[in-house]
Amino acid sequence: MGKQYPRYGGHLESGSTFAMKSSFRKKLLWLHTWFGLTVGLVVVFLALTGAGFVLQPQLDDIVYRDLHVVPKCAAPRALDELAASARAVHPLAALHSIEMTTEDTASVAVMFSDKDYVYVDPCSARVLGVQNQYGGFFGVMDWLHRARFFTDLALGRTVAGWVSTLFLVILIGGGIALWWPRNRQALKPALKFNPRLPGTARTLSLHKFVGVYTALVLVVITVTGLPIGFEPVKNLIYSATGYVPPEKPKSKAAAEGVKRVPIETFWRKTRELFPEAEWVSLRYPAKPEAAYEAEILENGRPHSIAKSYHYMDAVTGETLKREHYYADQHIGRKIYLYCIAIHAGMMGGLPYQLLLLLASLGVGVQAYSGFSPYLRRKLRKPARTDLALNLVKRTVEAEDICSFEFADPQGKMLPPFSAGSHIDVTIGDGMVRQYSLCNDPQDTHRYVIGVLRHADSRGGSRALHDDLNVGDIVAISAPKNHFPLDHTAKRSLLLAGGIGVTPILCMAERLANTGADFTMHYCTRSVERTAFLDRIRRSSFAQRVSFHFGDGPAEQLIDIPALLDGTDPDTHLYVCGPSGFMDLVIAAARQKAWPDAQVHREYFSGAVQDSENNVAFDVKLASTGKIIHVAKEKTVVAALAESGIEIPTSCAEGVCGTCLTRVLDGEMEHRDRFLTAEERDRNDQFTPCCSRARSPMLVLDL
Ligand code: FES
Repeated sequence: MGKQYPRYGGHLESGSTFAMKSSFRKKLLWLHTWFGLTVGLVVVFLALTGAGFVLQPQLDDIVYRDLHVVPKCAAPRALDELAASARAVHPLAALHSIEMTTEDTASVAVMFSDKDYVYVDPCSARVLGVQNQYGGFFGVMDWLHRARFFTDLALGRTVAGWVSTLFLVILIGGGIALWWPRNRQALKPALKFNPRLPGTARTLSLHKFVGVYTALVLVVITVTGLPIGFEPVKNLIYSATGYVPPEKPKSKAAAEGVKRVPIETFWRKTRELFPEAEWVSLRYPAKPEAAYEAEILENGRPHSIAKSYHYMDAVTGETLKREHYYADQHIGRKIYLYCIAIHAGMMGGLPYQLLLLLASLGVGVQAYSGFSPYLRRKLRKPARTDLALNLVKRTVEAEDICSFEFADPQGKMLPPFSAGSHIDVTIGDGMVRQYSLCNDPQDTHRYVIGVLRHADSRGGSRALHDDLNVGDIVAISAPKNHFPLDHTAKRSLLLAGGIGVTPILCMAERLANTGADFTMHYCTRSVERTAFLDRIRRSSFAQRVSFHFGDGPAEQLIDIPALLDGTDPDTHLYVCGPSGFMDLVIAAARQKAWPDAQVHREYFSGAVQDSENNVAFDVKLASTGKIIHVAKEKTVVAALAESGIEIPTSCAEGVCGTCLTRVLDGEMEHRDRFLTAEERDRNDQFTPCCSRARSPMLVLDL
């Protein structure tokens, strides 16, 4: 049988609405890309550093066990003794606070004014070690995430605030708008990652998939991060709720010679007043008039920053103020603290922390899948055969079908083509798609393609319909022909189904020009979905064409077996259309004993593959003897690429023949729609983009 290659199509929108939407989409895509390449880098930094310490509460005691965990201690020493022990190893900084939990196997952390923590065994007062607040892995991540490398901390927070705002609006909001499916049928594929797509299309599918599923969590993280980074947002919350941060109570100033009460006293009193305390930070007064201040996390708190407070006069030991989280906090303060808790994973337990971790790591995946198509496009060397052509005209040809006419910007002649030829069109971020030429092969200055906008487009037809405007320059290959006319045929029968009319129309033009004997049958769902209807009706061969509309009267419907029956045995059949239509025609031709060599066909897409039962095998390179393993989930092309051997591909699904490779030994499992039955029987070539092996090894002529 004749050969085939793939073609992809797409929908279209009509009139000025289309133009407006398309130009808006284009601008949005531009913004999304450029903000992704600039602001996105900062977002990746914030997300990955945030991910670096989100599990710190669980991992700290494991990673830094020597500092945090001590043998069970039933009778801890007084805190003043522990502080003195810590001070002995850290004499140059002032005591800042003492942090501890009520667990009997936890060390006590004495913090100094330089943010160094000295960890002490509460039973023996032995110093376990020293670590800065921003030391160790989690500390460094925290330091980076809070942009502590800015000498002006307020500037660092402002930068983070603006980055977060732009991330929210342009990258998340814009990304969702770009992703948004235009109808319900398109929703399902838009929610799935399609690993079977080739190259850039697969990467972009990953970008959209991860983006959609992480968007909500990222919006939550970013919105709740705004009051932390952006002072104006925090102030807005406070003023909207009427919250005025209260002044801290003051101690009676310690006069000269008057000693402060021991911190152990403060601890005992705090424990008495807050019997549900699980974690406590007792802060030393920094000034003579300052009070002792305790921050307490109580059992039953809504999140880990819902602190209670106890202030004690450092001279008299009198309680100046105590504040329980639930009872005493102002609503404005609660909102702000909830923002911190949600942003930092301080509530919801491990499941929420893991969700934050996944969403943050998802930002890394987004960066990779967003950057790499851009870089590939930038670094991609244009094929020597590529032409830079201008889109000079786009025309609505039928419902969901548009034609695109390309010409040289300087009006030069284009490489000639024969009927049945196709061109490779490079769209968007380096996607290459094949489309049949549908104009008269006698045209020397233009290439015309017809494109159906598929609801489940892999990106090609959608990009053409949505993003390509008259005046745009597009990289287009010189025409190639895998679906040629056999000019020795006495008679030709052309059968087109839907958008499969494009090469068939070109063939009709050619056959009419040469005065050959032919008839054409064109099947579509309805008149509205019949592309090039007027052109055909006005053509010189209009009398040779029969239209068959699926929703029309029964007498005009096509009867394929009858049509193929009793035809002149020298007739050549050419068929192109959706797979169901093609399969029907080809099966009928076989049944009517048409010779394979007289049946020429062209598929749109590869056969649906069941990869569940794939089996791993090896391929051997005949030139070097090198053996490469092809895992069951990998294609031969992918396995070869990992070993540095690039096989040129185009459709990646076995319909274009670009990757066709000679096989010297072994048995193949052909999964393509490119090779004819005769060619398969010769068992000497296969399409490594999709076909596999039945034998344990294939020897490739590489
Ligand atoms: S058949 Fe098209 S790339 Fe393999």
